[in-house]
Formats: sequence, C-alpha cells, structure tokens
Amino acid sequence: MNDFDTKDYFTDPSFVADPHPFFDHHRSKCPVRRLEASQNVIAVTGYDEVLAVLRDTANFSNIVAPIGPFPPLPFTVDGDDINGQIDAHREQFPMYEHLVTMDPPQHSRTRRLVSGLFTPRRLDENEHFMWALSDRLIDQFHASGKFEALFGYGVPFALLTIADLLGVPAEHHESFARHLNAQKVGSTEGESLGTNPLEFLDEKFTEFLEDRRREPRADALTILADAKYPDGKVPDVVELVRIATFLFGAGQDTTARLITSMLLQIAENHDLQKQLREDRSLIPPFIEEMLRMEGPVKSDFRLARKTTTVGDVEIPAGTVVMVSLPAANRDPARFEKPHELRIDRENAREHIAFGRGVHSCPGGPLARVEARVTIERILDRMHDLRVSEAEHGPAHEREFRYEPTYILRGLAELHLEFTPVG
Ligand code: HEM
Repeated sequence: MNDFDTKDYFTDPSFVADPHPFFDHHRSKCPVRRLEASQNVIAVTGYDEVLAVLRDTANFSNIVAPIGPFPPLPFTVDGDDINGQIDAHREQFPMYEHLVTMDPPQHSRTRRLVSGLFTPRRLDENEHFMWALSDRLIDQFHASGKFEALFGYGVPFALLTIADLLGVPAEHHESFARHLNAQKVGSTEGESLGTNPLEFLDEKFTEFLEDRRREPRADALTILADAKYPDGKVPDVVELVRIATFLFGAGQDTTARLITSMLLQIAENHDLQKQLREDRSLIPPFIEEMLRMEGPVKSDFRLARKTTTVGDVEIPAGTVVMVSLPAANRDPARFEKPHELRIDRENAREHIAFGRGVHSCPGGPLARVEARVTIERILDRMHDLRVSEAEHGPAHEREFRYEPTYILRGLAELHLEFTPVG
C-alpha cells in the first residue's frame, strides 16, 4: 500500500500538479483497476484498454462522461443490465441534455447538427478571423513586454473563436467576452459582474436563432438556425441553443489550457523555442506532442450498462469507469519513453487527447488551428519568450499553480515576459 492506493484521486490536492505518478502506479499494477480509495471507480489507464472502452457503446453509456462519480447514481443498481434504469433516470443526471452525455441513437441524431457547423468553408473563414484576433489580443499588452497567458490571451482567444465560428456578429464580441469571462478579460464595466454566463448564452442564442428563422441571412447563424436532424425534422430553437452553449463549454477552457501548456514549454525550453523559430514546419508536430503530453481533458467517464469485461477484468453493470486519456497517452506499451517530449516522435498522432469513437471531439481540427496560429504570431511578435521570475520564482525553483480539478489539466495562471518585435 502507498499513497496512490490510499488517497482519493478525486479530492486529494496532491495529484493536481502532476497526476502521472498516480496513473503510472495503477497502470503498472493493472491497466483496468478498481480504485477503492477513489470512489470505487474502475480506472482504465492502458492505451488499448482505453480505446476498447471508448469504442464500446453497447456496454458503456456516456451519461456520466463529464463528471464521473459525482453526484452518485440516482438509483440503486439492479442486475447485470441497467439500460432500463439509465433510460428511466436519464433526466436526473447533470448535463443530460447535452451532446456529450447522450447515447446512440439520440447522440447520432444530435451530432449531425454539430457536424454541419464544421464545414471546410466555415473553418477557413474562422481561421482568417483567428489571425486577426491573435494580433488584436497581443496588441493589448505588446508594448509592456509581459502578459498573463491564460486570461490575457488563451481564454479570450478560444472564446471569441467559438463566437465567430457560430456566427456571433462582431459587434457583440466585446459583450460576449465581458459576460463569459467577466472578471478576467480586463474590462469589468457595465453589466458584466454577477451575470450567469449560461443564462447570458441562452438568452443571446435564442434571440439570434429566432431572428434568423424569421429573416434568414447569408451567415453562419442562419446555417445553425436551418440545421435539421437526419430524418428532416426541424429541431426546436432550444435544442440548437444547447448546442451553441455546449460548444462554448467544451471548446473554451480546453483550448485555453492547451495554449498555456504550449507557451510554458516554449518559454522554459530555449532550445525548443529556437528550433520552432528557425523551422516553422515543426509547429504541428510540437502541437501533437503537447496534446499527447498535456492533453487538457484529464478524465473522461463511462457507466457500464451491462456486466462486461475489459482486458481480463470484469466490470459489473453500474460501475463508473474513469477513462484516463492522459494515462493512455503516456502508456509505455504504445509510446517509447512516454514522459519525454520529442517533437520527432513518429507515432505522436496516435494520442487520444480528443477521445475516440462516436464521441470523439468535433473541435479537434479547430483547436489545432488555434494552437498553430497562436504559436506563429507569438514567435513573430515576441523575442526571447520567458517565464516571469517575479511571478513564478527563479529557474531552479519555479512555482506553478494548476487548476484544482480532476476533469481538466492545466495551469491556473502563467506569467510570461518577452522582448517586443516591431
Ligand atoms: C485542446 C482542445 C480540446 C480537447 C483536448 C478536447 C477534448 C475532447 C474530448 C476528449 C472529447 C470526448 C468526450 C467523450 O468521449 O466523452 C470531446 C468532446 C467534444 N468536444 Fe472537444 N476538446 C477540445 C476542444 C474543443 C473545441 C474547440 C470544441 C468546439 C468548438 C469542442 C467541442 C466538443 C464537443 C461538442 C464534444 C462532444 C462530442 C460528442 O459527445 O459527440 N472541443 N472533446
């Protein structure tokens, strides 16, 4: 017995800064293992085993995907097949109305509405927006030679990129930034503080979509307002509003955390920074390797619908299974020397930071472009990007705070300095 067997992974703060020793320990014992001290969930930490669970929608439900063992199931598990119980209690689970918790066939129908938004043309227009946005954000702090990378750049960048993807008109962007990240983006004037961001999004998207249904225009909001289920049925406005709201939830913090992890790596590793400056074709492989090493989704969950086995381990119906994407991404059976960052790693793209199977992230291509545009513009406009010693301490004893959550992996803040170019 050691700390990894006795401490609760979900509540113990000691696993926040670096969860990998915990994952390595359990994977080395068994890649599918019950964590008695951690809410009794079964942790899946091996690459092949994680894939097996993610691809098996017959035996695993997504109903607990974003939150796992909290709150406990709203029923007492009865028997070796709980499909009926899941269906009967579905609406008692948090976030049951969102895509990520749905199961086929409802999931397949709703997912089609989302896919319609990610057309090559829309993504292309969105990328143009990102280049300009990146510069606008950098302009705000460029002359000072320093910035806080999470709330001064990553969060507003990811937030406004999604707003643009969904076709939110430019004149509303300032107000979206204020409401959805009220205290932190900078301006706190007017109505921003104390606003419930979800209520704000609901109100805004209901207004936009009802308007586009009444008066269609040549814009992305009209495409969303016109979206239909595969059988031709027209969704209610409220269903489309949920999609828009969920895209903000799914795409904002995740991408912002990826951006800060990458910037920390570039700022700390001067050889890497030099390499990326000299050969920009290394940026995409660097992004893949960062997704593998520091994928922002730390835990994804499934609920066993039926008693089944993964590997040789029996998983009783009703068990909450923690599908550990970061653990799979550092499984030594799949990635050689998995804790080393290697931008020439040949199989880096086999990482599963965006999940796999029917729920795999539809925003992956977008997040990759956001990461690339950011690195390009930061390298162009900043020389000698470095970590602020005043904020994080000297090189040999840095202090970083990580977000205290078992769901996301990422820094709570990152202060950087640079020499402005131009
Ligand atoms: C680095 C950034 C991102 C990471 C690491 C990430 C990761 C993931 C993962 C692991 C899932 C699968 C959840 C599951 O299997 O239960 C997922 C689902 C999803 N993501 Fe992302 N995501 C990122 C960015 C985005 C962006 C930018 C968007 C959209 C603007 C987005 C929208 C979604 C949606 C809608 C789902 C639900 C898909 C479904 O259930 O069918 N994500 N994401």
